[in-house]
Amino acid sequence: MKCLVVAVLAVCALVPSVRCASDAIAWCYHLPTCNDTTWPIIAPKYCNGTRQSPINIVSASATANSNLTAFTFVNYSSTSALIKMENTGKTVKVALASGIRVSGGDLPEAYDSLQFHLHWGNGASVPGSEHTVDGKRYPMELHIVNSKSSYNGNTTQAIADSDGLAALGFFIEVMSGNETGQPASWKTLTSYLSNITNGGESVSMAPGISLDDLLAGVDRTSYYRYRGSLTTPACNEAVVWTVFKESIKVSKDLIDLFSTTVHVSNSSSPLMVNVFRNIQPAQPVTTQTERATSSASRTCYSLGLMAMSYVLGRH
Ligand SMILES: *[C@@H]1O[C@H](CO)[C@@H](O)[C@H](O)[C@H]1NC(C)=O
Ligand SMILES: *[C@@H]1O[C@H](CO)[C@@H](O)[C@H](O)[C@H]1NC(C)=O
Ligand SMILES: *[C@@H]1O[C@H](CO)[C@@H](O)[C@H](O)[C@H]1NC(C)=O
Ligand SMILES: *[C@@H]1O[C@H](CO)[C@@H](O)[C@H](O)[C@H]1NC(C)=O
Ligand SMILES: *[C@@H]1O[C@H](CO)[C@@H](O)[C@H](O)[C@H]1NC(C)=O
Ligand SMILES: *[C@@H]1O[C@H](CO)[C@@H](O)[C@H](O)[C@H]1NC(C)=O
Ligand SMILES: *[C@@H]1O[C@H](CO)[C@@H](O)[C@H](O)[C@H]1NC(C)=O
Ligand SMILES: *[C@@H]1O[C@H](CO)[C@@H](O)[C@H](O)[C@H]1NC(C)=O
Ligand SMILES: [Zn+2]
Repeated sequence: MKCLVVAVLAVCALVPSVRCASDAIAWCYHLPTCNDTTWPIIAPKYCNGTRQSPINIVSASATANSNLTAFTFVNYSSTSALIKMENTGKTVKVALASGIRVSGGDLPEAYDSLQFHLHWGNGASVPGSEHTVDGKRYPMELHIVNSKSSYNGNTTQAIADSDGLAALGFFIEVMSGNETGQPASWKTLTSYLSNITNGGESVSMAPGISLDDLLAGVDRTSYYRYRGSLTTPACNEAVVWTVFKESIKVSKDLIDLFSTTVHVSNSSSPLMVNVFRNIQPAQPVTTQTERATSSASRTCYSLGLMAMSYVLGRH
């Protein structure tokens, strides 16, 4: 969620104010003086709040909500939607063209998809997703940041609204087998990393890959939902979170590129590794999947039925 902070800082630079000064806090992931354990102290207004993200999702505790229907994705198939990739010094962010939207999925209105960015650990073997599920941390997590269309891209208004933003979280896992450079969409995406090795650098992206291409293979009707926050200062509690159950599969060599290519600032500064916030206190989580009707009937399941439901897929 870091790029919104950048947007806020840009607004602050134009319109200095007391409120903006407190948002312009120097935070980081990699130094004891500014890493995430310090955020509740250096940015207490929201980072010390009560609906903070990310969280560990306990799948067995997610309650069913039949309102969590499918999403409608507008222009996610556009191959000219990804316009610029930037090294913000905290993440790798891709700015999206206007006219990319998401609605449905029990969101209160349509949201504009503004950007996506990534969180990672240190190579495929040191996981760095922000959310965890039943304690499992995935190698990476992609966040698509969406702002209520009625705010017309004004993120100052969006972060002041308890559901002004909708974040779509996708886990990224290593593809089984020993393929390299797969899938092609991710090979193209990661090819731009060598153009933004230093903090503050950006590169224009040529038409070619779409959001659908990057999200290929993920069932986007199966997800968890909770109300949380930005995962970077100022940690505004303005986010409706959707965390998809299935992961994007990317070959190990491409995952490893994130932690071996981009630096926090110049080429003598540290590589960007472990760019994720630690788990925050639990929140109520819902899911659109109907569970076995009642706890009474669940306890009556025979082992045979449980084995069958396992074969048919997790519920
Ligand atoms: C984060 O900072 C705290 C002190 O503020 C320190 O104890 C901890 O080791 C740091 N963690 C990392 C991963 O650097
Ligand atoms: C954070 O909030 C807790 C209670 O909600 C409070 O006790 C604590 O002093 C706060 N810390 C900071 C740094 O504001
Ligand atoms: C589903 O939506 C309806 C209409 O907005 C609402 O009354 C109901 O409480 C919702 N159900 C859940 C489980 O949130
Ligand atoms: C989808 O994008 C195209 C151009 O990229 C634009 O002309 C069109 O209006 C967009 N669709 C919507 C519904 O915004
Ligand atoms: C965004 O909205 C705020 C609050 O309504 C307003 O003060 C500000 O001028 C708007 N920013 C832009 C860039 O329109
Ligand atoms: C890995 O690739 C080699 C050839 O490059 C192949 O012989 C081997 O079977 C592959 N292993 C797996 C687990 O796919
Ligand atoms: C990105 O860097 C490569 C060399 O690593 C260079 O060939 C290419 O022109 C650069 N692309 C852009 C768009 O700057
Ligand atoms: C790189 O950045 C560091 C601060 O992060 C600075 O001290 C150093 O002088 C810079 N080196 C170069 C070659 O610019
Ligand atoms: Zn994020």
